[in-house]
Amino acid sequence: MTDQTLTLNEAKPVPVLPDAQTVTSITHHNDWLFSFRVTRPQSLRFRSGEFVMIGLMGDPHPETGKQKPLLRAYSIASPSWDEELEFYSIKVQDGPLTSKLQHIQVGDEIILRPKPVGTLVLDALLPGNRMYFICTGTGIAPFASLIRDPELYEKYDEVILAHTCRYESELKYGADLVASLADDPLIGEFVGDKLKYYATTTRENSPRMGRVTDLLRNGTIAKEFDLPPMNKDTDRLMVCGSMALNLDVKDICETAGMTEGSNSMPGEFVVEKAFVGEGVTENFD
Ligand SMILES: Cc1cc2nc3c(=O)[nH]c(=O)nc-3n(C[C@H](O)[C@H](O)[C@H](O)COP(=O)(O)OP(=O)(O)OC[C@H]3O[C@@H](n4cnc5c(N)ncnc54)[C@H](O)[C@@H]3O)c2cc1C
Ligand SMILES: NC(=O)c1ccc[n+]([C@@H]2O[C@H](COP(=O)([O-])OP(=O)(O)OC[C@H]3O[C@@H](n4cnc5c(N)ncnc54)[C@H](OP(=O)(O)O)[C@@H]3O)[C@@H](O)[C@H]2O)c1
Repeated sequence: MTDQTLTLNEAKPVPVLPDAQTVTSITHHNDWLFSFRVTRPQSLRFRSGEFVMIGLMGDPHPETGKQKPLLRAYSIASPSWDEELEFYSIKVQDGPLTSKLQHIQVGDEIILRPKPVGTLVLDALLPGNRMYFICTGTGIAPFASLIRDPELYEKYDEVILAHTCRYESELKYGADLVASLADDPLIGEFVGDKLKYYATTTRENSPRMGRVTDLLRNGTIAKEFDLPPMNKDTDRLMVCGSMALNLDVKDICETAGMTEGSNSMPGEFVVEKAFVGEGVTENFD
């Protein structure tokens, strides 16, 4: 399935869930990636880059018939000023949540726990001039939020969004979003020429290839945009990918003398998992 966007006209009624929000649009980007937008709870405040728990009701218990919410962590892909919330999701064929979530329709309800958290926030970094967003796969989601936030461009002179995926079709969501920003009536003038986009594939031929880590280490990305080598005084990084990617970029940052930041102790770089490893799920409640 490719790029099919549905509209609210096709809405159909569903039972009311706890903390329910209504799906307003859905786009399928390829066979295993989709994005969707939902209504935003009036009371929900979040900082661009944070994540929340979302989900659906699980199957009824075979004996008691009781249903429990099935929740997973999701980065909010829309910026903090947006009236709606956007999410960018993988479809794991046997995944407890996404095997069902991939079939949601406009007008359906999802559960959204309104408790945003996370470390990929501007507050967790010391002031700097140049921001690097390093991500793989669905790890682009928090940066889809941040690149639409005017505060990013007020705080940084240059923003480099580097995204690596296996296949070109996985780059589409990010590429389309970046392309749309220049002419965006709300954010376009903040973005100007500050946002530099570097997207690569590793398992399919495309205009730019290779792992983002190799391209950072060997200076390819810096060369492309005529940037100086990574420097702890001027450069800040946010990282979101698999555990392996996160550890590799952490090593690159620490080798450059940078320290990891957090909400309570800002530093020169921050890291967050884009998903939990094979067969493991975490409870963030
Ligand atoms: C902080 C945080 C933020 C997250 N944000 C997002 C997000 O914005 N979008 C999103 O799609 N997922 C995100 N995830 C992963 C998400 O929580 C679920 O794991 C995912 O929705 C699959 O749920 P599931 O129940 O179908 O399968 P699960 O049982 O949760 O996962 C099954 C297996 O699928 C693989 N997997 C799960 N999620 C992904 C993924 N995103 N990319 C590649 N492989 C994956 C892993 O190997 C995992 O062990 C995030 C996870 C964390 C910890
Ligand atoms: N068709 C499907 O249903 C489908 C689709 C996508 C993913 N999945 C499954 O989901 C899981 C995760 O998939 P994913 O592709 O999103 O994540 P991933 O395995 O982390 O790979 C995403 C991208 O990151 C690169 N990468 C991985 N580790 C890295 C590191 N340490 N440093 C730099 N780059 C690194 C990969 O390059 P390399 O190619 O060089 O490893 C790939 O280009 C896998 O188990 C996969 O089988 C299933």
